[in-house]
Amino acid sequence: MDHFQHRDGVLYAEDVPLPRIAEEVGTPVYVYSRATLERHARVFREALSGLDDPHIAFAVKANPNLAVLKILANEGYGADVVSGGELTRALAAGMKPEDIVFSGVGKTHAELLQGLDEGIGQFNIESEEEGYELAAIARRHGKRAACALRVNPDVDARTHEKISTGKRENKFGVPLDRAAEIYAGLAREDGLDMRGIAVHIGSQLSSLEPLETAFVKVGTLIAELRDKGCAVTHADLGGGLGVPYKAGEQLPAPADYGAMVARVTKGWNVRLMFEPGRVIAGNAGVLLTRVIRSKRSGNGPPFVVVDAAMNDLARPAMYGAWHDFEAVEPTGEKMTAHIVGPICETGDTFAMDRECDALVAGDLAVFRTAGAYGATMASSYNSRGFVAETLVDGDRYAVVADRIAASAIMDAERVPEWLG
Ligand code: LLP
Repeated sequence: MDHFQHRDGVLYAEDVPLPRIAEEVGTPVYVYSRATLERHARVFREALSGLDDPHIAFAVKANPNLAVLKILANEGYGADVVSGGELTRALAAGMKPEDIVFSGVGKTHAELLQGLDEGIGQFNIESEEEGYELAAIARRHGKRAACALRVNPDVDARTHEKISTGKRENKFGVPLDRAAEIYAGLAREDGLDMRGIAVHIGSQLSSLEPLETAFVKVGTLIAELRDKGCAVTHADLGGGLGVPYKAGEQLPAPADYGAMVARVTKGWNVRLMFEPGRVIAGNAGVLLTRVIRSKRSGNGPPFVVVDAAMNDLARPAMYGAWHDFEAVEPTGEKMTAHIVGPICETGDTFAMDRECDALVAGDLAVFRTAGAYGATMASSYNSRGFVAETLVDGDRYAVVADRIAASAIMDAERVPEWLG
């Protein structure tokens, strides 16, 4: 459930009519709903209520806006970060260092050091090489890093290949059949406190089955490690739960996910950790856009050219992803159209042959489910600026990220004088 609903023929975010934001902030603009974010954070926590003190770290990559992170910090969420930049954001938003987990295959020396200096709660080590490098840095600085070893369980998440992370051929984690040996080796390092196993097999999962298969493998590994005399006190089960992108689409409910986790992890005797991203933020945001013009195309459906483009919302161009598209002030009439942005490549297409509300130049529309992996994946391609972000709270809203003009991006560039 979200708080983007039509009232008297106008789409509102909570109690704010979207035309008001379009007028005052301009388009394209992301609009997030505080009530929806809080609701999703609570529903997910509630789904895990059968577990003993689960640790929930929001996957910052899904939506790193400071105001969004602040809301989740207020909800008691920690952060799953994958770069020094995300770590800095999580701290700036008020997340406690001990509630921060640092994931990612390519943490640099500087980023490992930053994590140690900030006293973060856990490093999710993705390779043997990274583990020994972290051990050396920690030892040199007189510190001990709490770590989980991320395993690659070789499970097909049955999602888009670009967001699948748990197959043997993917770059993530260490192979399951070497995990115990690597863990035991790292556990002998003074600089490391090897305390757990981490797994994350992919994103936008539409079935719980692959997750269950992966978790069962983690359970077996934990038993094997204990048999070898290794301590295991934590298990990080990652994120991945999918959300509906099409009205009426059915996806596993958080409650069913929680029940499956409770069943599979019974008797593990560890603190369970989670890294949800999309399921918290996805349906808590829309991308508000204005139709620039409608363009006839031979005998086919018209091209509706909107002012948002693939640089603002990359998912359709990148993954062929579907986002529901609807008028802010629908007339009740429908049309079939290709929905495209102004960028000069054919990939800048949001939808082909889409049946949607009838729209003409100047009309406002939204792409739904844009609160996760939306603004965060923006670029300035075609010398377009960075899109603005707003947060609605009841009948008020705030701009939580200024639009960055193309000229401001240009200001960071230099032409050496020797070019004449
Ligand atoms: N933990 C780790 C280690 C991850 O790599 C990810 C996402 C998450 C947690 C959060 O997963 P979620 O709960 O959001 O599914 N840009 C793509 C999604 C990439 C996901 C990358 N990793 C998209 O727009 O669909």
